[in-house]
Amino acid sequence: TNDLTNELYRPQFHFSPQLNWMNDPNGLVYFDGEYHLFYQYHPHGTTWGPMHWGHAISRDLVHWEHAPIALEPDEHGQIFSGSAVVDWQDTSGFFDGEAGLVAIFTHHDQEPDSGVPRERQSLAYSRDSGRTWTKYSGNPVLTDARFPDFRDPKVFWHTQTNQWIMILASGQTVSIYHSANLKEWSFASQFGEGEGAHIGVWECPDLFELAIDGDPARTKWVMLVSIGNSPEYPEGSRTQYFIGDFDGTVFKNDASPETVAWLDGGRDNYAGVSWSDIPAKDGRRIYIGWMSNWKYAQVTPTTSWRSAMTLPRTLGLKSRKDQIIFVQQPVHELNQLKLDTSNWEDTIVEPGQSALPVFDLSCFVIEAEFELQTAAEFGFKVRTSGLSETMVGYEVEKQEVFVDRSRSGEDAFHADFSGRHVVKAEAQERRLKLHIWVDTSSIEVFAGEGEAVITDLIFPGKEEKSLEIYSLQGTVRLISLNISPLKSIWTY
Ligand code: FRU
Repeated sequence: TNDLTNELYRPQFHFSPQLNWMNDPNGLVYFDGEYHLFYQYHPHGTTWGPMHWGHAISRDLVHWEHAPIALEPDEHGQIFSGSAVVDWQDTSGFFDGEAGLVAIFTHHDQEPDSGVPRERQSLAYSRDSGRTWTKYSGNPVLTDARFPDFRDPKVFWHTQTNQWIMILASGQTVSIYHSANLKEWSFASQFGEGEGAHIGVWECPDLFELAIDGDPARTKWVMLVSIGNSPEYPEGSRTQYFIGDFDGTVFKNDASPETVAWLDGGRDNYAGVSWSDIPAKDGRRIYIGWMSNWKYAQVTPTTSWRSAMTLPRTLGLKSRKDQIIFVQQPVHELNQLKLDTSNWEDTIVEPGQSALPVFDLSCFVIEAEFELQTAAEFGFKVRTSGLSETMVGYEVEKQEVFVDRSRSGEDAFHADFSGRHVVKAEAQERRLKLHIWVDTSSIEVFAGEGEAVITDLIFPGKEEKSLEIYSLQGTVRLISLNISPLKSIWTY
């Protein structure tokens, strides 16, 4: 039999579908000890096609078990993106007074007369912990003819006002609705006119409350909004965020309307949303994104499947010098994948001298803390073999972290794929942390406390597996460096 875990670019510690096309994460919900990951899925090909919800289940956010397709297209159309919640109080009446899972998604079809695209919101429910799903007979439950693009509902229970909230993308805004029972929805407000970036259709919004510095008495609301690919922007699809307040009806952005804050400085983190119903005693807000970009997603050089998810990430807010910063870090559960870690402390890196022995690593994590000295630039070359390499580094003067994938391996499949991506990261007291997760076909960089992130796909060959550290035009001090090979999560 064909070993699906061994294909050239098959991720070894990121989620990917066994076969065929995947895009957005959907229906992220935690229930009864299980994290559910549904996803936009085309089961009959490796490019986008009639959308289903694929399904996988995990107990630790690291190891995933593939489950049968959860939702298939029906008389109302394809099953586009959406969310899932635990209906603890059986407000919907689907569960005979018990708790159960309700999925809220977009039905996408065409107006019967004009053929114009139509998007309406619908429900499905599961009485067996997500194993099987029944579509609600009253579908669709929310229509609004004003918006041809009206999709990707994210639903949550708002404890302060005791009701369900739905936030969904409506053209280049988001609309917010209220419900007592998930079946009947009333309009609450609209956000986004003149706020943030408007360089493409808005998609896949999310809205949640986060404690600042972990203090539950000080919170802010964060809104995520993904922005579709437009031909005129080489960046393709990207996700922005807003920090503000939400009273159950209106979201108020703290920043000036023209401020644009991107979730990721790389090219391959799109349509990400957060898990619902993670128990309060855990308290985390956990996010996962689709690790690709509509610019080239359908032509990436994989074989039997296309696309993977980002690492699951814990989201947070931290105060720093009168400012609130938004941070992301890979979930701590990933630490179980580390094999024997090599550690260095207090080591000076000099130009032209290798401070490390020769490493052969394809899947690994680097956890480095540097003290800036005289070097103008420093960092790592990963997945290198001399001729090709992926560069990850820091330009001191510009205070920029970068990933350069312009000599990383296969990249001829799309003119906008190759390139160098930067994000601002201020060193704190001349110190900078760089955490770098490298898989078979991706790299994720978390700088500082996670306020600067770059997620990029790369397609190096199997032989491209050396690792080097470098500095340019001066020295930099490694306060500490841990390098850990990572084991594969796949045991089909
Ligand atoms: C985002 C998106 C969503 C839509 C889905 C369709 O990537 O365009 O807005 O629901 O993909 O597959």
